Amino acid sequence: MLPFWVNANAGVNLSEKKLSDELTDYKDITTYNNFYELGTSKSDPSKNADWLKTEPWSIEVSGLVNKPGRISIEDILKISSEERIYRMRCVERWSMVIPWQGFELSKLLQKFDPKNEAKYVKFTTIFNPKNLLGQRKAVLNWPYTEGLRIDEAMHPLTFMATGIYGKSLLNQNGAPIRLVVPWKYGYKSIKSIQKITLTSTMPISSWTRASPNEYGFYSNVNPRVHHPRWRQNKERRIGEFRKRDTLMFNGYEAEVADLYKGMDLKKHH
Ligand code: MTE
Repeated sequence: MLPFWVNANAGVNLSEKKLSDELTDYKDITTYNNFYELGTSKSDPSKNADWLKTEPWSIEVSGLVNKPGRISIEDILKISSEERIYRMRCVERWSMVIPWQGFELSKLLQKFDPKNEAKYVKFTTIFNPKNLLGQRKAVLNWPYTEGLRIDEAMHPLTFMATGIYGKSLLNQNGAPIRLVVPWKYGYKSIKSIQKITLTSTMPISSWTRASPNEYGFYSNVNPRVHHPRWRQNKERRIGEFRKRDTLMFNGYEAEVADLYKGMDLKKHH
Protein backbone atom coordinates (compact mmCIF):
# COMPACT_ATOMS: atom_id res chain seq x y z
CA MET A 1 0.00 0.00 0.00
CA LEU A 2 1.26 3.46 -0.83
CA PRO A 3 1.35 6.03 1.97
CA PHE A 4 -1.61 8.38 1.80
CA TRP A 5 0.40 11.28 0.40
CA VAL A 6 1.17 9.43 -2.80
CA ASN A 7 -1.77 9.21 -5.12
CA ALA A 8 -1.05 6.61 -7.75
CA ASN A 9 -4.18 7.63 -9.64
CA ALA A 10 -3.42 11.31 -10.23
CA GLY A 11 -6.12 12.74 -12.41
CA VAL A 12 -9.03 10.71 -11.03
CA ASN A 13 -12.01 12.51 -9.61
CA LEU A 14 -10.77 13.92 -6.32
CA SER A 15 -14.08 13.37 -4.57
CA GLU A 16 -13.69 9.62 -5.06
CA LYS A 17 -10.51 9.41 -3.07
CA LYS A 18 -10.40 8.10 0.45
CA LEU A 19 -8.32 10.47 2.51
CA SER A 20 -7.56 10.63 6.17
CA ASP A 21 -7.91 14.41 5.97
CA GLU A 22 -10.52 16.31 4.01
CA LEU A 23 -9.23 18.56 1.24
CA THR A 24 -9.43 22.31 1.77
CA ASP A 25 -11.75 24.11 -0.69
CA TYR A 26 -10.09 25.45 -3.83
CA LYS A 27 -11.56 28.86 -3.04
CA ASP A 28 -9.86 29.00 0.37
CA ILE A 29 -6.54 27.75 -1.03
CA THR A 30 -6.58 30.51 -3.65
CA THR A 31 -7.92 33.46 -1.64
CA TYR A 32 -6.39 33.03 1.84
CA ASN A 33 -2.68 33.43 1.15
CA ASN A 34 0.66 34.62 2.40
CA PHE A 35 2.68 36.13 -0.44
CA TYR A 36 4.14 39.40 0.85
CA GLU A 37 5.38 40.46 -2.57
CA LEU A 38 1.66 40.86 -3.41
CA GLY A 39 0.66 42.50 -0.11
CA THR A 40 0.58 41.55 3.56
CA SER A 41 -3.09 40.79 4.21
CA LYS A 42 -4.53 37.34 3.46
CA SER A 43 -6.75 38.65 0.66
CA ASP A 44 -4.06 40.82 -1.02
CA PRO A 45 -2.29 38.09 -3.06
CA SER A 46 -5.43 37.06 -4.96
CA LYS A 47 -6.47 40.69 -5.46
CA ASN A 48 -3.01 41.77 -6.66
CA ALA A 49 -2.19 38.56 -8.52
CA ASP A 50 -1.60 40.37 -11.81
CA TRP A 51 1.41 42.21 -10.36
CA LEU A 52 3.32 38.97 -10.94
CA LYS A 53 4.31 38.36 -14.57
CA THR A 54 5.18 34.70 -15.15
CA GLU A 55 6.13 34.77 -18.85
CA PRO A 56 8.89 34.17 -19.73
CA TRP A 57 10.09 32.09 -16.75
CA SER A 58 13.14 30.01 -16.03
CA ILE A 59 15.14 28.77 -13.05
CA GLU A 60 18.88 29.28 -12.88
CA VAL A 61 20.69 26.49 -11.02
CA SER A 62 24.24 27.32 -9.94
CA GLY A 63 26.84 26.92 -7.21
CA LEU A 64 28.16 23.47 -6.30
CA VAL A 65 26.84 21.57 -9.33
CA ASN A 66 28.78 19.96 -12.18
CA LYS A 67 26.34 21.20 -14.82
CA PRO A 68 25.22 24.74 -13.90
CA GLY A 69 22.60 26.24 -16.17
CA ARG A 70 19.13 27.57 -16.71
CA ILE A 71 15.98 25.56 -17.32
CA SER A 72 12.87 27.10 -18.88
CA ILE A 73 9.44 26.54 -17.39
CA GLU A 74 8.49 24.75 -20.63
CA ASP A 75 11.23 22.17 -20.00
CA ILE A 76 10.40 21.99 -16.30
CA LEU A 77 6.82 21.10 -17.20
CA LYS A 78 8.12 18.13 -19.21
CA ILE A 79 9.29 16.47 -15.97
CA SER A 80 6.68 13.80 -15.30
CA SER A 81 4.07 15.16 -12.95
CA GLU A 82 2.21 13.44 -10.12
CA GLU A 83 -0.27 14.43 -7.45
CA ARG A 84 0.59 14.80 -3.76
CA ILE A 85 -1.96 15.56 -1.09
CA TYR A 86 -0.16 17.32 1.73
CA ARG A 87 -1.07 19.09 4.92
CA MET A 88 0.29 22.62 5.11
CA ARG A 89 0.80 24.15 8.54
CA CYS A 90 1.52 27.87 8.69
CA VAL A 91 3.56 29.18 11.62
CA GLU A 92 0.55 31.46 12.28
CA ARG A 93 -1.44 28.39 13.48
CA TRP A 94 -3.72 27.79 10.51
CA SER A 95 -3.54 24.79 8.22
CA MET A 96 -4.90 23.40 4.97
CA VAL A 97 -4.85 20.13 3.01
CA ILE A 98 -3.85 20.76 -0.58
CA PRO A 99 -3.78 18.45 -3.62
CA TRP A 100 -0.65 19.57 -5.47
CA GLN A 101 0.61 18.60 -8.91
CA GLY A 102 4.33 18.59 -9.54
CA PHE A 103 7.42 16.44 -9.03
CA GLU A 104 10.06 15.64 -6.45
CA LEU A 105 12.68 18.39 -6.17
CA SER A 106 15.42 15.73 -6.45
CA LYS A 107 14.35 15.12 -10.07
CA LEU A 108 15.16 18.73 -10.94
CA LEU A 109 18.39 18.91 -8.91
CA GLN A 110 19.75 15.70 -10.45
CA LYS A 111 19.65 17.30 -13.91
CA PHE A 112 22.37 19.71 -12.69
CA ASP A 113 24.49 16.99 -11.06
CA PRO A 114 25.16 18.29 -7.51
CA LYS A 115 28.77 18.04 -6.31
CA ASN A 116 29.64 16.08 -3.19
CA GLU A 117 30.58 19.32 -1.41
CA ALA A 118 27.01 20.64 -1.79
CA LYS A 119 25.54 20.61 1.71
CA TYR A 120 22.67 23.08 1.37
CA VAL A 121 20.24 24.35 -1.25
CA LYS A 122 19.23 28.00 -1.39
CA PHE A 123 16.06 29.14 -3.19
CA THR A 124 15.28 32.65 -4.37
CA THR A 125 11.96 34.17 -5.47
CA ILE A 126 11.62 36.57 -8.41
CA PHE A 127 12.80 40.11 -7.56
CA ASN A 128 10.97 42.87 -9.42
CA PRO A 129 9.95 45.80 -7.21
CA LYS A 130 8.74 47.68 -10.29
CA ASN A 131 5.76 45.30 -10.58
CA LEU A 132 5.71 43.54 -7.22
CA LEU A 133 4.76 46.51 -5.10
CA GLY A 134 5.13 44.54 -1.87
CA GLN A 135 8.88 44.49 -2.51
CA ARG A 136 8.96 48.27 -2.17
CA LYS A 137 8.14 47.92 1.54
CA ALA A 138 10.81 46.90 4.00
CA VAL A 139 8.75 44.07 5.52
CA LEU A 140 11.44 41.55 4.60
CA ASN A 141 14.89 41.62 3.09
CA TRP A 142 13.98 41.07 -0.59
CA PRO A 143 14.15 38.91 -2.59
CA TYR A 144 12.50 36.21 -0.47
CA THR A 145 15.00 33.42 0.09
CA GLU A 146 14.79 30.03 1.76
CA GLY A 147 17.08 27.09 2.34
CA LEU A 148 17.19 23.36 3.00
CA ARG A 149 19.90 20.93 3.93
CA ILE A 150 20.78 18.78 0.89
CA ASP A 151 19.31 15.60 2.43
CA GLU A 152 16.06 17.46 3.14
CA ALA A 153 16.05 18.76 -0.43
CA MET A 154 16.58 15.24 -1.81
CA HIS A 155 13.93 13.68 0.43
CA PRO A 156 11.08 12.10 -1.58
CA LEU A 157 8.47 14.24 0.23
CA THR A 158 10.12 17.50 -0.91
CA PHE A 159 8.11 18.65 -3.87
CA MET A 160 8.10 21.30 -6.59
CA ALA A 161 4.49 22.24 -7.28
CA THR A 162 3.18 23.53 -10.58
CA GLY A 163 -0.53 22.96 -9.96
CA ILE A 164 -3.34 22.60 -7.44
CA TYR A 165 -6.57 20.58 -7.93
CA GLY A 166 -5.41 19.69 -11.46
CA LYS A 167 -5.15 23.34 -12.54
CA SER A 168 -1.96 25.36 -13.14
CA LEU A 169 -0.82 27.27 -10.05
CA LEU A 170 -2.44 30.68 -9.71
CA ASN A 171 -0.07 33.58 -9.13
CA GLN A 172 -1.18 33.96 -5.51
CA ASN A 173 -0.04 30.38 -4.81
CA GLY A 174 3.43 30.94 -6.28
CA ALA A 175 3.09 30.47 -10.05
CA PRO A 176 4.60 29.10 -12.11
CA ILE A 177 6.58 26.93 -9.66
CA ARG A 178 7.05 26.81 -5.88
CA LEU A 179 8.52 24.57 -3.26
CA VAL A 180 6.40 22.44 -0.89
CA VAL A 181 8.03 20.95 2.22
CA PRO A 182 5.09 19.49 4.14
CA TRP A 183 6.82 18.77 7.47
CA LYS A 184 8.05 22.35 7.86
CA TYR A 185 6.18 25.56 8.58
CA GLY A 186 4.63 27.04 5.43
CA TYR A 187 7.13 29.87 5.08
CA LYS A 188 9.79 27.36 4.00
CA SER A 189 7.61 26.62 0.94
CA ILE A 190 8.97 29.48 -1.12
CA LYS A 191 6.92 30.70 -4.08
CA SER A 192 7.71 31.75 -7.66
CA ILE A 193 11.29 30.44 -7.65
CA GLN A 194 13.80 31.80 -10.16
CA LYS A 195 17.10 30.76 -8.63
CA ILE A 196 18.46 27.64 -6.92
CA THR A 197 22.01 27.68 -5.56
CA LEU A 198 23.84 24.71 -4.05
CA THR A 199 26.22 25.77 -1.30
CA SER A 200 28.58 24.40 1.33
CA THR A 201 27.39 26.83 4.01
CA MET A 202 23.95 27.24 5.55
CA PRO A 203 21.94 29.88 3.69
CA ILE A 204 20.16 32.54 5.74
CA SER A 205 16.49 32.77 4.81
CA SER A 206 14.54 36.03 4.70
CA TRP A 207 12.55 35.10 7.82
CA THR A 208 15.62 34.07 9.80
CA ARG A 209 17.29 37.33 8.85
CA ALA A 210 14.21 39.28 9.96
CA SER A 211 13.92 37.50 13.32
CA PRO A 212 16.41 34.70 14.07
CA ASN A 213 14.88 34.01 17.47
CA GLU A 214 11.49 33.33 15.98
CA TYR A 215 12.33 31.65 12.67
CA GLY A 216 15.24 29.21 12.68
CA PHE A 217 16.80 27.43 9.72
CA TYR A 218 14.99 24.12 10.26
CA SER A 219 11.48 25.37 11.01
CA ASN A 220 10.16 21.84 11.45
CA VAL A 221 6.57 21.71 12.66
CA ASN A 222 6.88 20.78 16.31
CA PRO A 223 4.01 21.03 18.82
CA ARG A 224 6.52 21.05 21.71
CA VAL A 225 8.71 23.90 20.48
CA HIS A 226 6.79 27.13 20.73
CA HIS A 227 7.16 30.39 18.90
CA PRO A 228 8.43 33.02 21.37
CA ARG A 229 5.11 34.89 21.01
CA TRP A 230 2.59 32.00 20.82
CA ARG A 231 2.19 28.27 21.43
CA GLN A 232 2.38 25.80 18.56
CA ASN A 233 0.50 22.77 19.90
CA LYS A 234 -2.83 23.61 18.23
CA GLU A 235 -3.95 24.81 14.83
CA ARG A 236 -7.11 25.80 13.01
CA ARG A 237 -7.77 23.92 9.80
CA ILE A 238 -9.24 26.45 7.36
CA GLY A 239 -12.91 25.53 6.93
CA GLU A 240 -13.18 24.01 10.42
CA PHE A 241 -14.45 25.61 13.56
CA ARG A 242 -12.64 23.80 16.37
CA LYS A 243 -8.91 23.79 16.87
CA ARG A 244 -7.07 20.52 16.32
CA ASP A 245 -3.79 19.20 17.70
CA THR A 246 -0.65 19.98 15.73
CA LEU A 247 1.26 16.81 14.91
CA MET A 248 5.02 16.27 15.21
CA PHE A 249 6.62 17.05 11.83
CA ASN A 250 3.06 17.93 10.73
CA GLY A 251 2.17 14.22 10.71
CA TYR A 252 5.17 13.12 8.60
CA GLU A 253 7.26 11.86 11.53
CA ALA A 254 7.55 8.29 10.20
CA GLU A 255 8.97 9.62 6.94
CA VAL A 256 11.34 12.36 8.15
CA ALA A 257 12.32 11.88 11.82
CA ASP A 258 15.51 10.05 10.78
CA LEU A 259 16.82 13.23 9.15
CA TYR A 260 17.14 14.80 12.61
CA LYS A 261 18.38 11.85 14.67
CA GLY A 262 20.46 13.00 17.62
CA MET A 263 19.68 16.69 17.10
CA ASP A 264 18.28 18.91 19.84
CA LEU A 265 15.14 20.11 18.07
CA LYS A 266 14.69 22.98 20.50
CA LYS A 267 18.10 24.33 19.70
CA HIS A 268 17.82 23.57 15.99
CA HIS A 269 14.33 25.02 15.65
N1 MTE B 1 7.03 32.77 -0.73
C1 MTE B 1 7.27 34.06 -1.07
N2 MTE B 1 8.05 34.32 -2.12
N3 MTE B 1 6.73 35.10 -0.38
C2 MTE B 1 5.93 34.87 0.73
O1 MTE B 1 5.47 35.86 1.35
N4 MTE B 1 4.92 33.21 2.23
C3 MTE B 1 5.17 31.90 2.85
C4 MTE B 1 5.19 30.78 1.80
N5 MTE B 1 5.98 31.18 0.64
C5 MTE B 1 5.67 33.53 1.12
C6 MTE B 1 6.24 32.49 0.32
C7 MTE B 1 4.20 31.57 3.88
S1 MTE B 1 4.34 32.44 5.34
C8 MTE B 1 3.27 30.58 3.73
S2 MTE B 1 2.29 30.08 5.03
C9 MTE B 1 3.03 29.94 2.41
O2 MTE B 1 3.86 30.49 1.39
C10 MTE B 1 1.60 30.15 2.02
O3 MTE B 1 1.30 29.45 0.83
P1 MTE B 1 -0.16 29.61 0.21
O4 MTE B 1 -0.52 31.05 0.17
O5 MTE B 1 -0.10 28.97 -1.14
O6 MTE B 1 -1.08 28.85 1.15
